[in-house]
Amino acid sequence: MQKIEKFIFNFAEKFDNYFLKLLPSNYYSPKLHDAMEYSISVGGKRLRPLFLLEISRMLGVKKKLALRAAAAIELIHCYSLVHDDLPAMDDDDLRRGHKTCHKKFDDATAILVGDAFQSLAFEILSDKKTHPNPEVRCDLINQLSIAAGPLGMVGGQMLDLVAEKKKLSLNEILLLQKLKTGELFRFACIAGPILSELKNIKIFVNYSKNLGLAFQIKDDLLDIEGDEKKMGKKTKKDLSRGKETLVSFYGLAKAKKMSQELIKNSVNLLKPFGIKSKRLIELTNFVISRNK
Ligand code: IPE
Ligand code: IPE
Ligand code: MG
Ligand code: MG
Ligand code: MG
Repeated sequence: MQKIEKFIFNFAEKFDNYFLKLLPSNYYSPKLHDAMEYSISVGGKRLRPLFLLEISRMLGVKKKLALRAAAAIELIHCYSLVHDDLPAMDDDDLRRGHKTCHKKFDDATAILVGDAFQSLAFEILSDKKTHPNPEVRCDLINQLSIAAGPLGMVGGQMLDLVAEKKKLSLNEILLLQKLKTGELFRFACIAGPILSELKNIKIFVNYSKNLGLAFQIKDDLLDIEGDEKKMGKKTKKDLSRGKETLVSFYGLAKAKKMSQELIKNSVNLLKPFGIKSKRLIELTNFVISRNK
C-alpha cells in the first residue's frame, strides 16, 4: 500500500469513531437508529471530510471546529448515496462492500435515513460548537444548502436520471457532473476558508472545480475498469443504464487525460501555499490514482 493510502485508511478509521458519536444518543425508533448507524458504520473513504480537514489545517483552523463541518458534509454525502442506491434511482444492492440501506432494511427506511442525515448535518453546523461567530455558522449553512440543493447535488441527480434516456451535449454533461459531485466537493474545499474567516476564497472554489470533476471522471472510469470487490459497489452499471458520462462521451483515453489535466490544474492552484500544501497535493493526486 502507498504511504498516502495508509494515511487515508487510518484517517477514515479515526474519523469514524468521532462521526458515529455525533449521531443522537437516543431514538424513538430503534429501526431508524439501526439503519442510520448501519449506513455510517459500513465505512467509505471519507474523502470529503479529509479534504475539508486538510485545507482547514493548512489555514490554521482549530481541528475541533473543522471536524464538525467535516461530519456535516459526510452526512450529506451519505444521504446522497443512500438515496442514489434506491430502486427509483440507480437501483443498487451493494454499497461500501455491504448491502445497500434499502436492501438491509426497506425503501421507506432508506428514504428516512437520508432525510435524517440531511437534517442532522444542518443541526451540527448551526450549533454554537461549530464556530463562535454566528455569521460564520450562517455562511456554512448557506453554502451547504446551495451545494446540496436544487442548484447543487439534488439538481445534478435529477439531470443524471434524465441523462439515462437521452443524448447529452458536452456542456450538459459538464453541468450534470459539476452539480451532482462537484458541489459537495466545493463545500468541502471552502468550509475551512469560511471557518478561518478568510476574505477571498476564490482559489479554493477554483481548486474544487478541477478536483470535483476529476473525482467524478475517476468514478466513471472505475465503473468500467475497476474491481467490484475492491470498490465495494457494482461496476459496469453506467453503460448498461445508458448513463452519459465524460467517459462515454470522450472514450477512456481522452477522459483519463482530462482527469490528469484537471488534477494538474488543482495542484498548480496550491502553489501560493508552498510546503504547507504538501499533504494536500498528495491527496489531490490520490483522487485519480485510487483504485476504489
Ligand atoms: C461515490 O463517492 C459517489 C460519487 C459522488 C461518485 P465516494 O467514492 O466518495 O464514495 P465513498 O464515500 O468512498 O463510499
Ligand atoms: C453518485 O454518482 C452521486 C451522488 C450520490 C450525488 P454515482 O451514481 O455515479 O455514484 P456511485 O457510482 O453509485 O457511487
Ligand atoms: Mg447515480
Ligand atoms: Mg449510483
Ligand atoms: Mg458511479
